Amino acid sequence: MIRSVIRGAGAALPPRVVTNEELADRLETSNDWIVERTGIRQRHIAGEGETTSTLAIEAARAALADAGIDADGIDLIVLATATPDNTFPATATKVQAALGCAPCPAFDIAAVCSGFLYAMSTADAMLASGQAKCALVIGAETFSRILDWEDRTTAVLFGDGAGAIVLEAQEVADDTGPTQGPGILTSQLHADGSHHDLLYVDGGPSTTQTVGHLRMKGREVFRHAVVNLAQVLTDVVAKAGVEIGEIDWVVPHQANIRILEGTAKKLGLPPEKVIVTVDRHANTSAASVPLAFAAARADGRIKPGDLVLFEAMGGGFTWGASLVRM
Ligand code: ACO
Repeated sequence: MIRSVIRGAGAALPPRVVTNEELADRLETSNDWIVERTGIRQRHIAGEGETTSTLAIEAARAALADAGIDADGIDLIVLATATPDNTFPATATKVQAALGCAPCPAFDIAAVCSGFLYAMSTADAMLASGQAKCALVIGAETFSRILDWEDRTTAVLFGDGAGAIVLEAQEVADDTGPTQGPGILTSQLHADGSHHDLLYVDGGPSTTQTVGHLRMKGREVFRHAVVNLAQVLTDVVAKAGVEIGEIDWVVPHQANIRILEGTAKKLGLPPEKVIVTVDRHANTSAASVPLAFAAARADGRIKPGDLVLFEAMGGGFTWGASLVRM
């Protein structure tokens, strides 16, 4: 049987770091409020000349180097973003041009903070159906460009960055157990469009012809996030036929330390198994899961053979989870 195996991972963060104290100089907020409510201590913010595509290209190159694969070995690029360089063409095509791997398919996926889960699941399906053999799956964002910097309820929560993985179709022996051997074991995606007004951008090409700003009712989003994530994680674990205790690591979307801890507690997962980067990166939307994964892989926590649960929830609402054996 064919499985989609993670061969490598890479990350890119703009060098400019903005601390909570720096934000408190401009907004009516404080380091204590931000740390206590969110766990965020700092975020990286893109500077002049840095865009979603430049970050995505850097992360993609790092993932290729980590996998030991040349760009000409890539035959699919799926890039998750809600902050593309332009309305069109897809930012994925800019990555493809920079890497020089035309004419492979390259397209963007818009599922906001769940975008990387949607992109990974789409690439997995394309590998399984034989449409590609080796994919770059990228989450890249510059949310700083759609924030209302006068609005303290949202401006303190987000950062910029990109993360990428190389996903390769590999033959796994047919007698390999359903939860043994490397690769994506199972994924589950959801959306519920009825909550549009809780988290959205108030602009766009077909409505205002402006880019717009992020608007959010944080408390309601929080409530939905914990419920939806606990449910999809329970479902995906049951679908794969594993026990919660078998999971080595959870790589969650990094929105808020309280959502991470609340979800882990609901599932009975010890907090030390949850990879946390929200303190350093803040919420980087579609980039947060691959950034956290790349960090935990680079520092040696996530190792070959580990069972890793990825999860995310974001605007739409969209949410999902994937269970992967390294
Ligand atoms: N600094 C100081 N005070 C603030 C700030 C700030 N930056 N922002 C809001 N406040 C004030 C509010 O005005 C309010 O004041 P009031 O009581 O006088 O009206 C008070 O703090 C409490 O506000 P709440 O919104 O109720 O605070 P809450 O504890 O819910 O925390 C937060 C807000 C951090 C946004 C939280 O609701 C949250 O994290 N929600 C999840 C949202 C999220 O992560 N979205 C990302 C995209 S979706 C996802 O990734 C899952």
